[in-house]
Amino acid sequence: MLKTTNPTQTVAWQSLTAHFEEAQDYTLADLFADNPDRFAHFSTQFEDSILLDYSKNLISEETLTKLLALADETGVSDAITSMFNGEKINRTEDRAVLHTALRNRSNQPVMVDGEDVMPHVNAVLAQMQSFSERVISGEWKGYTGKAITDVVNIGIGGSDLGPYMVTEALAAYKNHLNLHFVSNVDGTHMAETLKALNPETTLFLVASKTFTTQETMTNAHTARDWFMKAAGDESQVAKHFAALSTNADAVANFGIDTANMFEFWDWVGGRYSLWSAIGLSICLGVGFDNFVALLDGAHQMDNHFKTAPMAQNMPVLLALIGIWYNNFHGAESEAILPYDQYMHRFAAYFQQGNMESNGKYVDRHGNPVDYQTGPIIWGEPGTNGQHAFYQLIHQGTKLIPCDFIAPVHSHNAIGDHHAKLMANFFAQTEALAFGKSREQVEAELVKAGKSAEDVAAIAPFKVFEGNRPTNSILVEKITPYTLGALIAMYEHKIFTQGVIWNIFSFDQWGVELGKQLASNILPELSDDQQVESHDSSTNGLINAFKQWRQA
Ligand code: F6P
Repeated sequence: MLKTTNPTQTVAWQSLTAHFEEAQDYTLADLFADNPDRFAHFSTQFEDSILLDYSKNLISEETLTKLLALADETGVSDAITSMFNGEKINRTEDRAVLHTALRNRSNQPVMVDGEDVMPHVNAVLAQMQSFSERVISGEWKGYTGKAITDVVNIGIGGSDLGPYMVTEALAAYKNHLNLHFVSNVDGTHMAETLKALNPETTLFLVASKTFTTQETMTNAHTARDWFMKAAGDESQVAKHFAALSTNADAVANFGIDTANMFEFWDWVGGRYSLWSAIGLSICLGVGFDNFVALLDGAHQMDNHFKTAPMAQNMPVLLALIGIWYNNFHGAESEAILPYDQYMHRFAAYFQQGNMESNGKYVDRHGNPVDYQTGPIIWGEPGTNGQHAFYQLIHQGTKLIPCDFIAPVHSHNAIGDHHAKLMANFFAQTEALAFGKSREQVEAELVKAGKSAEDVAAIAPFKVFEGNRPTNSILVEKITPYTLGALIAMYEHKIFTQGVIWNIFSFDQWGVELGKQLASNILPELSDDQQVESHDSSTNGLINAFKQWRQA
């Protein structure tokens, strides 16, 4: 089970607090000058496919030692064992946390409530394989006998972001099936998607762990109505709708044949579900073998997380570095910046992964914490971000630790595109770390022929302080295997931080109130009566909406 230690009460935290007094003045320039082998000391590798360089962080050997002591004192190692062993570490929902069992390629038994879950996992994988192969080969026919050309995944949150992110990241492996992802309850999303589709050749996957999510059920009903308008016969639904869910009753009530249901279990968190039946759109889009390679990569990262010494353990190192900035330097956000266009949804995916997991102010005792927990996660692919928001990272007043991710090999080696992309990737972390001094700026201006007056006037604006920390994550190539490993690495980073912060990372009660209030408000929108049941702001807005819609 997880410890319930307040991290700030540990010896390690006190020691880190004392250490921060001097460490806050570290500069990356000094750290590199003091240790010319810094790269060798502060980098580590996962197999031959992922290199993590964390040398451009505001940490010394001493900082790291103290951070590792924090991991030790808060029981990270035991927590890892508890998670993999299927203990019910998601205590507020009384559930095990076993997305790792979904990718347990060793097939060693994993017990939940005295039962090995692996036979169930393998049975659903076999079902996913046979279904996806039939659809891809064209053997699976629609109601008029035509093969499927388009697959629409209807889901939201973890039932959308994961498969969408992965199928985009692996677009180089795509087959002929066109994939679409509809998540938003805004009718525009469904309407625009349906415009291009033919009901005879479209397969809908209704992806919802609970099968009760308002957005998904609304979209699913709309898709069904659209389909029925063309097919006209209820019995044809089975050929065009499948459900990915834990809730067999609700699937049956919706009218989807449970033979077309791909099951998963309550020990799979929504934001950790792409490895489950929720990954069916991945199987369909890139083929089952590539889905298995994704699982393999994640499984090997799981093994690394379980067995690598803490000082070489990538997820643990990333977690500790994050805690250093979040809790000691006072950083509020972290940017994830993939230099790979295919990975354009990676930051959005981990926005949910991280913020829904660790956006908690109540500790494992049920008390409010008196320290910071999860950071704000954001990011966009490079180099686009360079021409948009990097200005603030370079010269703004906020500390924004960044993860730069890039592949050595591009899937599209056109001319010198990749060399240019990578030159930017390397240049950015160098610029952020070491900046440009006033002396350098002045020398450049003088060389450019500026007058002494102009130099004095312009120089301050051109100075880069540097000292902006980054991790660089170099990936051999973005393949199903390396992507699986990369996702698992970030999942485990989030887990490790949650353990140290003494919070429950696998529930998400914070999303419930909005849902509840929305369901109270929905009936109030059905007539033109004035609403008076809320505060004046909410009443005012609802009433303005009702009045304007009549106009
Ligand atoms: O409301 C948040 C949430 O429960 C997420 O955790 C989840 O990924 C998403 O909604 C979708 O839930 P479901 O898969 O049950 O439709």
